[in-house]
Amino acid sequence: MCQQSKTVVAQCDPKLAQALLPLIQSGIFDGSLSPEQINLLQHQTGLTQPDLALALLPLAASYARAPLSDFKVGAIAQGSSGRWYFGANIEFPEVPLQQTVHAEQSAIIHAWLRGEDRLSAVTVNYTPCGHCRQFMNELNSAEQLTIYLPQQPPQPLHHYLPNAFGPKDLGITQLLFDPSTQDYASHPDPLSDQAIRAASQSYAPYSHAYSGVAIQLRQGTIITGRYAENAAFNPTLAPLQAALIALTLQGFSYGDIECIALAEPPSAKLSQAAATEALAHAIGVQQRLLKIAIRD
Ligand code: THU
Ligand code: ZN
Repeated sequence: MCQQSKTVVAQCDPKLAQALLPLIQSGIFDGSLSPEQINLLQHQTGLTQPDLALALLPLAASYARAPLSDFKVGAIAQGSSGRWYFGANIEFPEVPLQQTVHAEQSAIIHAWLRGEDRLSAVTVNYTPCGHCRQFMNELNSAEQLTIYLPQQPPQPLHHYLPNAFGPKDLGITQLLFDPSTQDYASHPDPLSDQAIRAASQSYAPYSHAYSGVAIQLRQGTIITGRYAENAAFNPTLAPLQAALIALTLQGFSYGDIECIALAEPPSAKLSQAAATEALAHAIGVQQRLLKIAIRD
């Protein structure tokens, strides 16, 4: 946990700061909270679950990387398992603004990568933009998802996104977070294999161009990210962005990256290669991008 997060915790509501410090200082905080940790924090602060999530948003926002706007957004996605996943916006100088990750996307993809199969709510410190409302409409829980904002009553997603366009308009019934796996053969190289595994679990019902990224860190750890499409196409999240969400929330930085592997079927209708290459260049790993062709 970085010094910045400790400073942020110290600025939280005093009771919450006191309850959070042992968790932060022990180094066990991994950008998420288990139901037991949430219960304990509730017990120590007397806050209801919605108020606790709102009170934790400064900690979520401390993970933001916003060198362009200096506008830090924090979000918490609440899984049906009872676990909470933090998320924050990530901006990238040098590449088009379209490559930006929003805090809501970050928290949601963080939960998806950690194996949640459904979300019940998203709490965020600013009103979600239209792009995020559309992104959330891809979820298998979109009809039941509750949005919590400061100084606003809880509202269903559809309060913010009436007359929505979504997957059903394109005849898609298997939604984001629904289990789905492509049957791809394994690869002898562990990094390539993890990129292929990520691709096999990616969500690409519109293009069928499944893709995944695996990042080898200097510390030895491998971090993966998978592609998540959207019915409106543009709010789609690329696989390198997904992996960088996981990397950020686990407290790593771009300087820890040894190399990046992108896996996709060469026969697919579209490719992540050019956009991944541009972003890899922008974060300083241009020479170390492996492109793995998935044999399908
Ligand atoms: N931002 C979010 O993270 N969520 C929203 O819904 C509103 C906008 C971020 C994106 C960008 O990094 C910055 O805020 C300015 O738009
Ligand atoms: Zn947004």
